[in-house]
Amino acid sequence: MDRIVIRGGRPLSGRIQISGAKNAALTLMPCALLTDEPLTLRNLPRLADIDTFGHLLNGHGVSTTIEGSHPGEFGRVMTLRANRITSTVAPYDIVRKMRASILVLGPLLARTGEATVSLPGGCAIGNRPIDLHLKALETLGAEIELAAGYVRAVAPKGLTGARVTFPTVSVGATENAVMAAVLARGTTVIDNAAREPEIVDLCRCLKRMGAKIDGIGSERLTIEGVAKLHGATYAVMPDRIETGSYACAAAITGGEIELVGADASHLGATFDALREAGLACAATADGIRVSRANGLHGVTVSTAPYPGFPTDMQAQFMAMLSVADGASLLTETIFENRYMHVPELARMGADIAVRGRAAVVRGVAGLVGAQVMATDLRASMSLILAGLVAKGETVVNRVYHLDRGYERLEEKLSGVGADIERLSDG
Ligand code: UD1
Repeated sequence: MDRIVIRGGRPLSGRIQISGAKNAALTLMPCALLTDEPLTLRNLPRLADIDTFGHLLNGHGVSTTIEGSHPGEFGRVMTLRANRITSTVAPYDIVRKMRASILVLGPLLARTGEATVSLPGGCAIGNRPIDLHLKALETLGAEIELAAGYVRAVAPKGLTGARVTFPTVSVGATENAVMAAVLARGTTVIDNAAREPEIVDLCRCLKRMGAKIDGIGSERLTIEGVAKLHGATYAVMPDRIETGSYACAAAITGGEIELVGADASHLGATFDALREAGLACAATADGIRVSRANGLHGVTVSTAPYPGFPTDMQAQFMAMLSVADGASLLTETIFENRYMHVPELARMGADIAVRGRAAVVRGVAGLVGAQVMATDLRASMSLILAGLVAKGETVVNRVYHLDRGYERLEEKLSGVGADIERLSDG
């Protein structure tokens, strides 16, 4: 298994190209199931999760063709075509690798009137149920049963527009509801919809495919179903979590990085917190420049649905704040078990006390390199960040988590001066 070795202590400086957003790509790819015409996605990141989702779609009869890069763009171009759906079953072996597989449920049901998807089960950051996805599809007329670890949804006469009111904000459930409603008969109103930029990306792509959606970016989406969608070409938005993670790398090392291709408009709460901690952030012609001239200060941050501070940035912030002046208070309100990185950061010398959903981080003068491993993607990135500032050598194990969500991580970080390499066993 691969490991990443970092010798910390170098301030980073230079340019990092930001990739297409993983979480946007994972909701744009299943849109191909909604039409028999080709959907071409540009700026797709090269990531394990994208490959896995491609395999899942292949199993439903979707052809996927990679056509290299679009001029002036970093990511790949992929054309997906679901001429005919050959299977409506998403099997356990793929779903267990990637929870986002649940996002085929809405579009398969809308296109064919049936879908059978393995239940994703628990994962490293908590229980993560799918009740809101199922409730929304039931409201649109699906009949749902759970058996033998699978959820089976059928709508023999098609889906019908309805009012879907989410009791809590869910990104994935909103995405499934939107992808189902675009082909339903009549009008669907989704209240308390998630407003994440990835959902805006999804709605824009669907509009380009012929869907009728109003209220994009707000908590109420109104969707008028259409009989058919057509093909389209769409460029995936830049990854706001990758952007925020590299901004933390500049902050923790006292460096200056230009995040090329980043979109500041998606990063309000993240940059507010970074500024408060002492990072300077400024728009440039190509993206955003972040730099830290002076010290880092402790801050109080609570995760919340967009436009609040993203839960996907919590672990990276914690690493950064572990070497700030003074104490910080982090509160995780989205997932109940998302502090798995704390004991690993503590092994590197961080002083963090967790009580329930709150974590108090007391800044220390420095971290010390160690052998560490993490159980999820963002937690792994927090250990990379800690390694960048730690004295001596840090070895981050279980690198496959990072490969799911950070494109060419070592290349991007060594390009700005980090001493980082990947070691493969054997
Ligand atoms: C997505 C992101 C993930 C991010 C999360 C929150 C993708 C592929 N993943 O995950 O990176 O951390 O949004 O921004 O885009 N919930 C229920 N019932 C449900 C669905 C969710 O109770 O049916 C709860 C969850 O347990 C959690 C909260 O709602 O406490 C938010 O989860 P949700 O927004 O659905 O996250 P995901 O879509 O899984």
